[in-house]
Amino acid sequence: MTLTVAHRGSLFHLLADPRFKEDCVEFIEDGLLTVSEGVIESMGPADQLLHQLPAGTKVIQHNDAVLVPGFFDLHVHSPQLTTVAIYGEQLLGWLNTIIPEEEAYKDPEIASKRADIFIKEALRNGTTTMAVYGSWAKESVDALFKKADSLNMRFVAGKVMADRNMPAGISLTSPEQDYEDCSSLIDAWHGKGRLSYAVTPRFAISCTREDMNVASRLMGEHDDIYFQTHLSENPKEIEFTLELFPECKSYLDVYDSFGLLGRRSIFGHCIHLEDEDFKRVEETGSVLCPNPPSNFFLGSGLFKFENAKNHNVHVALGTDFGAGNTLSMLSSMENAYKMAQLQGYSLSPWEAFYYATLGGAKALSVDDRVGNFLPGKEADFVVLDKKATPLIEWRMEHARTPADVMFVLMMLGDDRMVRSTYLAGNAVHHRDE
Ligand code: GUN
Ligand code: ZN
Repeated sequence: MTLTVAHRGSLFHLLADPRFKEDCVEFIEDGLLTVSEGVIESMGPADQLLHQLPAGTKVIQHNDAVLVPGFFDLHVHSPQLTTVAIYGEQLLGWLNTIIPEEEAYKDPEIASKRADIFIKEALRNGTTTMAVYGSWAKESVDALFKKADSLNMRFVAGKVMADRNMPAGISLTSPEQDYEDCSSLIDAWHGKGRLSYAVTPRFAISCTREDMNVASRLMGEHDDIYFQTHLSENPKEIEFTLELFPECKSYLDVYDSFGLLGRRSIFGHCIHLEDEDFKRVEETGSVLCPNPPSNFFLGSGLFKFENAKNHNVHVALGTDFGAGNTLSMLSSMENAYKMAQLQGYSLSPWEAFYYATLGGAKALSVDDRVGNFLPGKEADFVVLDKKATPLIEWRMEHARTPADVMFVLMMLGDDRMVRSTYLAGNAVHHRDE
């Protein structure tokens, strides 16, 4: 006999991309979300659904809370736990300081212990799907996949490829080693449970043409793996990249010249893109993933949300932890709002929540399985506490509309607001226990 569990509370989700479609938001003040075997059976107003529940169905009451689809953090570095919040540097200097710390992850015991800490932190923040950069040691990614699989978490990861221009003392990879290590990780993990592999050249600066060719070869050999890398984050980084690839007309063109753009490619940051680049991103269906906490922390610049909208490109959102000083996607939304404000563009709460939920699912082409509460989808969701702090509680009493409620959640929220996190219907985090 299948067991249904019903969750009662306010429900919020998006049905489409609010940049292009009006009326694509559902907010149900007193809602019911029923889950059976990890999958959503129904969602709607409690007064309509309660009397249809099979006798004896367990109803979990989430008072003073909004249930939202689990967050997607589509750009995040697991081996930067020990280097988050390093004072005073911008990208290239910062990388020289933090990268040597990633060396420790070749030790499987360290990799395993820290994978547990990293994933636990993500769940505490309400993140239920992530696209993660490991270190260059395949042990780092093995450990992440092992932990994510044990939790039945939707998880994308790859070991970083880097065969040149790393700080002194780092064990550089080689194209041959990268091919071998990535292939063995793909064979071991890709497609198992909810896990997927992402081919992950750290960035063009750290990869020779031979290494980039390995990335293309891997993408060609496997239909449904992902590609992720950094793009156009910082002016000095862009300048160095174009010195290394003088035949290319832009930073984006470097990846394009290796055939690495497309629907399964996720580019982190994308701050200093030109109109031509946006056009090419649109043509290829590639995904742009801004990381506002990181972009403010490193002083890298402002992602052009409005241009991305005008070009109808896929946008998801990340934290870029540890250059981002948080693993909270609520904080990333808050920073995205401020980033857009600095450019005279007001990011609505719908747009922000879209990037962190359904937009993330669309970016990964898994929106048929996750991203909102439609029946048949996997029940990954988060319970956000409207009384998380005295100020939030007081402000919520004065919130008059669903848009106001959701905006307050994203502007004042962080990990303290996440009361519970569920993966495929199973509770994996309770703040108060
Ligand atoms: N570019 C290459 N590596 C990194 C990294 O670890 N973090 C950020 N923010 N940018 C990068
Ligand atoms: Zn990054």
